[in-house]
Amino acid sequence: MSNTFYIGIDLGTSRSCLATSTGKRISTRTCVGYPKDIISQKRFGKDYLLGDDALNNRLALNMIWPLADGIICEDKKSIEATGLILKHLIAEALPEKQADDKIYVAIGVPAQASINSKKVIIDITKSFLDKILIVSEAFSVAYSIDRFDECLIVDIGAGTTDLCRMHGSMPEEEDQVTLNFAGNFLDNVITQAILEKFPEVQLTPQIIRRIKEKHGYVYDVSEPVQVTLTTQGLPAEYDITDILKECCLKLTNPISQAIQKLIATFDPDFQKKLRNNIIIAGGGSRLKGIDISIEKSLEKYGGGDAECIQDAEFCGSIGALKMCIEMPDDYWEEI
Ligand SMILES: Nc1ncnc2c1ncn2[C@@H]1O[C@H](COP(=O)(O)OP(=O)(O)O)[C@@H](O)[C@H]1O
Ligand SMILES: [Mg+2]
Repeated sequence: MSNTFYIGIDLGTSRSCLATSTGKRISTRTCVGYPKDIISQKRFGKDYLLGDDALNNRLALNMIWPLADGIICEDKKSIEATGLILKHLIAEALPEKQADDKIYVAIGVPAQASINSKKVIIDITKSFLDKILIVSEAFSVAYSIDRFDECLIVDIGAGTTDLCRMHGSMPEEEDQVTLNFAGNFLDNVITQAILEKFPEVQLTPQIIRRIKEKHGYVYDVSEPVQVTLTTQGLPAEYDITDILKECCLKLTNPISQAIQKLIATFDPDFQKKLRNNIIIAGGGSRLKGIDISIEKSLEKYGGGDAECIQDAEFCGSIGALKMCIEMPDDYWEEI
């Protein structure tokens, strides 16, 4: 007798997570690396490396981040890379799968991809999936915590911040907003600000991301932020307390504005409820003080209540898995 496996996938701009009905959890970077030349081809002995494996060997690879801009780029390489990531994630999750077993998958993607890249996702997955459901990542976050009543999900990822207004039924296009102000934007702003003040220091994207994830904050902190950076190989301490706060505010200000706009255009009878039920998810929800900063921005509208989700890493894939198990036939895509 054949089995049916259910899988929830959160296909993020920087990280993809997967949860299965058999209890597996897998997380990897949303990237593929292709050998740069014949030497790297010889070294790796294969045509491509995936996820963290690719990232760790990136000096010898041409890296593709197919969802970096929040949609699947239309070029052949990006489409192929998305297919490779999904196919390998699923194969890794289900080693026990037999030829006649069925695989049903719900995928949470950035809001714009859920609207604009549906056909591409169906085309690249139909050879290895039996049923597919494509939703916005923010909606799968809401689903994971059973929040179908009036609330506002703010999913701050790497390439995009996705906002989704929930009102007890399927969110429509006007309930969703995608901003390009997210983790990568913040990395760029911090890099520029540090180089402006200390032009000689040596920075890499990895150094910046580590500083941001450890020290980033948007609300008052007690400790000054001192980091060790090198200038021509020579390490020294640098105070970046003010730089960090100013930069982080450049990320949270546009997010607060988008929140206010989604609330202001909602049914007036429910605006207060929305203001008091803001749920922050995604890697950016770990930025210290982000909940308080969003609440502060709503003070002049009568105040608000924002909370950060607990399992920022897997909540999207767990929500997608729940949806995959529960959704009736009408909601699935035609493959
Ligand atoms: N502690 C932290 N403070 C600030 N940003 C963080 C923190 N931890 C992770 N991030 C950022 O969150 C982003 C990744 O979030 P994620 O939800 O995985 O993205 P996506 O869904 O777009 O793949 C990255 O830009 C990462 O640097
Ligand atoms: Mg995400």
